[in-house]
Amino acid sequence: LAELWGPRPLAGRRAVVTAGPTREALDPVRYLSNRSSGKMGYAVAAAAAAAGAEVVLVSGPVALAPPPGVRRVEVTSAAEMLDAVLAEVAGADLFIATAAVADYRPAVSADRKIKKDSERMELVLERNPDILATVAALPERPFCVGFAAETHDVIGYARGKLEAKGLDLVAANAVGEGQGFDRDDNTLTVLWPGGERALGSGSKRELARALMDIICERLHARD
Ligand code: CTP
Ligand code: CA
Repeated sequence: LAELWGPRPLAGRRAVVTAGPTREALDPVRYLSNRSSGKMGYAVAAAAAAAGAEVVLVSGPVALAPPPGVRRVEVTSAAEMLDAVLAEVAGADLFIATAAVADYRPAVSADRKIKKDSERMELVLERNPDILATVAALPERPFCVGFAAETHDVIGYARGKLEAKGLDLVAANAVGEGQGFDRDDNTLTVLWPGGERALGSGSKRELARALMDIICERLHARD
């Protein structure tokens, strides 16, 4: 790649990356969330910056410092993440959704701490907006990359997401049973309409760089 576009193939390009989990409030002291550490997303943001892009990282709550040269916008809930992404994505060339967005949020978030005044409690949840699908449906959309975290039939579900959300690229990884979430290494397969490439296993940093190479290839092929 360096031979074709120089060492900074994304120079002059703007990228928006989502990362980390979201938290969906039940009351002022409790929330629903997931095990995402944000490590893969932060590695992707760092790789995009290293490739020369101007990077905005829209991040849920994680215990990581922003990579050097990356502007971070901190959010808590999926609704806040969507608002921040829509504010940043206009004019962007690339959108990479690595966040583990909560699919559902409590239908009501209580103003005051919920008291344990019954033996049994049921929670009603409603669907959160799909941030990636929303960006992919914009009239002047950036090149859209999704992640698919699956416990089974990884490639099948990942290709389903590529098609259903109309994406340019999906990075698929297996999660659960000591894989994926909250670890330093990962195993990725990258899919696009009409092709796929297994990147194998490696550190999230190495995989993020290999993924960025493919993104640059596909992005330049499209232009
Ligand atoms: N995503 C998103 N907004 C959501 C849900 C998911 O932007 N509300 C993005 C994720 O960041 C990821 C991709 O969509 O890039 C796929 O997320 P995933 O959870 O694997 O798939 P879902 O479409 O949510 O379907 P399911 O959880 O049922 O497998
Ligand atoms: Ca999901």
